[in-house]
Amino acid sequence: MSLRHSYTLIAPFYDALVAPFTIDMRRRSLASLPLAAQSEVLLIGIGSGLDLPLLPRGPRYTGLDLTPAMLSRARRKAQALGLDIRLDQGDARTLPYPDAAFDAVALHLILAVTPHPERVLKEAARVLRPGGQMVILDKFLRPRQKAPLRRLLSPVLGSFATRTNVVFEEALAQTPELCLLSDRPALAGGWFRHLVLRKTGP
Ligand SMILES: C[S@@+](CC[C@H](N)C(=O)[O-])C[C@H]1O[C@@H](n2cnc3c(N)ncnc32)[C@H](O)[C@@H]1O
Repeated sequence: MSLRHSYTLIAPFYDALVAPFTIDMRRRSLASLPLAAQSEVLLIGIGSGLDLPLLPRGPRYTGLDLTPAMLSRARRKAQALGLDIRLDQGDARTLPYPDAAFDAVALHLILAVTPHPERVLKEAARVLRPGGQMVILDKFLRPRQKAPLRRLLSPVLGSFATRTNVVFEEALAQTPELCLLSDRPALAGGWFRHLVLRKTGP
């Protein structure tokens, strides 16, 4: 089953399953983005739009997701909130935006979902302007962490929902233009982490 297919099936239940245990860490993650009025902000893998009620007014927002059923929920939330956001269907591995188009990028619960986190991170860095910031919220293993159950279950869980064996440092090593500013535990004893990065460059 493709991820697009499984998230189409999950979409009606997603908020009830995920919202309660993620609201606090979402709020903390978004608060760490320096968002000025007129900033261009991209939310990659925006899903059903659980971040939308937490976004400050002023910046210009764009959200992208692979799954139309998730995007239509995000669209309804934006309308109910009166939030102006451009929503695009697309693949995070090949973002349909020019280089350096955004001042800030949020990757909430998407890097560990995709089978190619290193490609998604590289694309996110490409569309971020030099000096721009990125926040990441997700579950990652540490380098050389054993976690046998998570490694065993990952191929099955990853085929329809999320991987549980992604090592963030391995993806980051392939994107040297990103500089890690902070790395804090977000939930579940540090399995979920809140990372803030800046794109270096001229
Ligand atoms: C676990 S949900 C997270 C949604 C949202 N960011 C949140 O924090 O609630 C993962 C989302 O990633 C989307 N997704 C999976 N693979 C993708 C890809 N290659 N490109 C864009 N979105 C993708 C799914 O459709 C789903 O909406």
